This record gives sequence, structure tokens and C-alpha cells, in this order.
Amino acid sequence: MARTLEGKVAIITGASSGIGAATARAMATAGIDVVLVARRRDKLEEVAKSIRNLGRRAHVVVGDVSDTPHVTAVLDEAERHFGHFDIVFSNAGYGMERPVHLMEDADLRAMFEVNFFSSVALLRESAIRLRRAKRPGHLLMCSSCLSKFSMPDQGAYAATKAAQEAICRAMRFELAADHIEVASVHPVTTTTEFFSESAQRSGTKGGSVPDHAPKLFVQSPERVADAIVACLRRPRSEVWTSHIVRLSSALFTAFPWILDLVLRREARRQSRRRAHAPSATAKVP
Ligand SMILES: NC(=O)c1ccc[n+]([C@@H]2O[C@H](COP(=O)([O-])OP(=O)(O)OC[C@H]3O[C@@H](n4cnc5c(N)ncnc54)[C@H](OP(=O)(O)O)[C@@H]3O)[C@@H](O)[C@H]2O)c1
Repeated sequence: MARTLEGKVAIITGASSGIGAATARAMATAGIDVVLVARRRDKLEEVAKSIRNLGRRAHVVVGDVSDTPHVTAVLDEAERHFGHFDIVFSNAGYGMERPVHLMEDADLRAMFEVNFFSSVALLRESAIRLRRAKRPGHLLMCSSCLSKFSMPDQGAYAATKAAQEAICRAMRFELAADHIEVASVHPVTTTTEFFSESAQRSGTKGGSVPDHAPKLFVQSPERVADAIVACLRRPRSEVWTSHIVRLSSALFTAFPWILDLVLRREARRQSRRRAHAPSATAKVP
């Protein structure tokens, strides 16, 4: 039977744009009150306004998820404002396109800090508090389809996403007896600020989606948000929004040589692109 969501309280990180903002609105439409977390207050306030227009309560918490005390502050704020929380969606994250051998150690560690360590810290502390209060709950991390297959120039990012998936899978069974659901979310190319942000960090040119992304696989953040709400109603271990990519990832696992063929072509395309982008290569040591 589908679970009812009316009156639940959710915490969403990375709620100032893209998938996080769309998920906040989809959850509000489903009757959920939300705590919105990110660094840009003005953007969070805009999202909060749209939630209140939908008739639900919203509370804004500004901060950087990679600051360790921030996790405690976010959960304290949620409990202070709403009395409790039921759902936590650790979604804040970013990408950077660069070959692994050209990646600075500091950049690699910083990406793991935001995408992986801060997500684990938030879900771990959430689980501790839910267990202590003997409350059921639902914990989710925004991983990626790239958790299943890495790509050239995306190795570091894909590693953070694979690590998220691995942690979620274990936590799902560790917390099952406490009635705490855990899921990883695996979006494909989604039209958000992700690619312009990634291009800026990588020193490359970039628009709202990569030039090479097949239209078939490009989706809206609302599509991901609806799939997340569907998972809250009917829990599952992984949330996917593209059957084709999901099946392809299974095929790549079973027959890695197929993935090798695809990636060899992709690597050639990337190196042609780098050769034609002098501003990008200038930043790469
Ligand atoms: N777009 C895609 O194609 C795609 C595909 C697969 C997976 N994903 C994943 O989806 C998640 C959301 O990304 P998106 O596509 O919605 O991109 P987005 O629009 O750029 O959103 C990223 C969000 O993360 C927040 N954020 C980033 N660093 C932060 C930090 N240090 N502290 C607090 N908040 C931080 C940003 O807010 P502030 O800048 O205001 O802090 C923003 O709200 C990410 O984990 C990404 O890896 C995206």
C-alpha cells in the first residue's frame, strides 16, 4: 500500500536550485513541510516562497554542507522549527570535468567532502536521531547514473557517486529493523545549473546540458523530483528516471567490453574538444 506523506517533514540539501528545488516543490505538493538547505539565501527564500504558495511550511537554513558543525545545526534547526523530521534528502553536490591524472589532490578531496563525506555525515546523524526517537524515516542521497559506469574526465565525480550508492545500500539493511528506509537516486542528464557550475570549476565552456548529451536522455529536474516522491510513497533501494540508461548500466556490468567501446569513442571526442578549447587547456597543468 502507498504511504501517506501529508504532514511529514523533510530536510533537503542543495535546495536552492535544480533537483533539490524541484524536489522541495514536489514534496510540498504531496503535503510535506520542508527545511531548505544551501549557501545562497536569496535562492532559498525564492524556493521557500513557492512552497508557502503551495500551502506548506518552509524553513531556510543557510550554510556549507562541508562544514562539519553544519550537519548538527541543520538537524537542530529542523527539530526546533518543526519538532521533528521524517525525510532527509542529501542532494547538494557538484561535478568537475578533468582527467584524473590532471586533477589536483585538493580538488579531488573537496569534491569528496561535499558529495560524499557531508552526505554520509548527514544521513548518519539523521539515523542516530531517528533511532533514538524510535521514529520511522526515509533517508536518500542524490547519486547519479554514473555510479554504475565511469567516463573519461568524470572519474573523480563518478567515484563520489559510486561511494554514495555503496553507503546507501549498506545503510538500507542496517536500518531496516528500525523502519528507516534508505535509497540512492540515479538521475541521468538533468537540466539544472550543474553543467554551467561544472564548466566553471573545470575551466571549460558549458551550457545547461553537455553538447553531446543525446536528447532522449535529457530530463527536467521535475521528472527526478516526481520519481523521488514516488519512492517516498513506495520505498525502493534505487530511484531511476531512465529505463534505457538503467538497462545499459546492467549490460555494461555484464559485458564491460561494450562499455570500453563506448568510452573509447567518448575519450576521442573529449580530447578533440580539449584541443579546440584553448581556455580550458590553459587552466589544466
Ligand atoms: N544535473 C544532472 O545531470 C545530474 C545528474 C546526476 C546526478 N546529479 C546530482 O544531483 C544533485 C543536484 O544537482 P543539480 O543537478 O540539481 O545541480 P545544481 O542546480 O547545481 O544544484 C546543486 C545544489 O547543491 C548546492 N550546493 C553545492 N555545493 C554546496 C555546498 N558546499 N554546501 C551547500 N550546498 C551546496 C547548491 O546550492 P548553493 O550553490 O546555493 O550552495 C545547489 O542548490 C548533485 O548531487 C548532482 O551530483 C545531477
